[in-house]
Amino acid sequence: RPRVVSGVQPSADSLHLGNYVGAVRNWVRMQDENECVFFVADLHAVTVEQDPATLARRTRVTAAQYIAAGIDPERSTLLVQSHVPEHAQLAWALNCITGFGEASRMTQFKDKSAKQGADNATVGLFAYPVLMAADILVYQAHAVPVGEDQRQHLELTRNLAQRFNTRFGDTFVVPEPKILAETAKVYDLQQPTAKMSKSAASENGLIRLLDPAKKNAKKIKAAVTDDGTEIRFDREAKPGVSNLLTIYSALTGRPVDEIVAEYEGRMYGHLKVGLAEVVTEVLTPIQQRAQELLDDPAELDRILARGAEKGREVTAATLSTVYERMGFLPRL
Ligand code: TYM
Repeated sequence: RPRVVSGVQPSADSLHLGNYVGAVRNWVRMQDENECVFFVADLHAVTVEQDPATLARRTRVTAAQYIAAGIDPERSTLLVQSHVPEHAQLAWALNCITGFGEASRMTQFKDKSAKQGADNATVGLFAYPVLMAADILVYQAHAVPVGEDQRQHLELTRNLAQRFNTRFGDTFVVPEPKILAETAKVYDLQQPTAKMSKSAASENGLIRLLDPAKKNAKKIKAAVTDDGTEIRFDREAKPGVSNLLTIYSALTGRPVDEIVAEYEGRMYGHLKVGLAEVVTEVLTPIQQRAQELLDDPAELDRILARGAEKGREVTAATLSTVYERMGFLPRL
């Protein structure tokens, strides 16, 4: 079965709707036909400063949300990135075949380091996309379901896989990005031309999976909409309404056209009320399940330990091949 790998950084106390609609929700469906590895990217989170206790808490909370959203730790491998040392070990090897200029061209690094000031950005932040390549290649993944913002990192991953294969002999599967056109980018509710992100300019632009239904409904009702009154999908002329329709469609599994037809002749406010109900309906059971899991952290930790063990069966084999091909002297 094809192997699928993906992850989210535990950099907040809740996933947001962009992570869910753009990534995690699509992972759930892929479990049927693929051998999936989903991990919590804690090594990536520390590329910016983290409070240690907060990081540990958020790592559990993120894992709990994966399961609550429908990732089945029996069928899929669910693990914490730092529990599987081969991620970081392979990253070092890949760092040594990555060009400095090549890494400098990563737009996410350029954006983030510009925000922080070049002197505050860490070497870890610079090397972040190479670690991401290692996360994927260490499992010999065929497909990587992510949002649009990760496309360039996937391109780098493919380049590094091909480069390694050319230089040292066929070692890695060259992975394909799985970026679903409809949900590749969920936009900020207050600024519907910017992606929804935890570093949003306004708190009101962001829907968190674990926030109370009322709070989320209020934000949806306050979402920026567009000139005119007609409810139709048009990213250019109607980015606000189109974003609401995208989220509505993703969460219900109904085509956008059908939703547009349902709301024909009605006002933006009606669409918002409808969407708030849909969001509540989808998130309430996820919140309940996540809470149950967090109430029993020992069981959650056992699930993660099993995941790490399963993961290592694959990663240890990849790493030993890589080390051998690179000429590292085998330890007796
Ligand atoms: P992160 O934690 O920023 O985001 C997790 C996933 O959510 C997607 N996403 C979105 N999709 C649609 N609309 C949005 N507004 C939106 N915001 C976020 C992201 O595209 C991503 O799929 N580097 C990664 C984590 C990572 C990873 C990996 C992913 C580390 N190693 C290996 C795949 C494979 C990141 O920071 O994602």
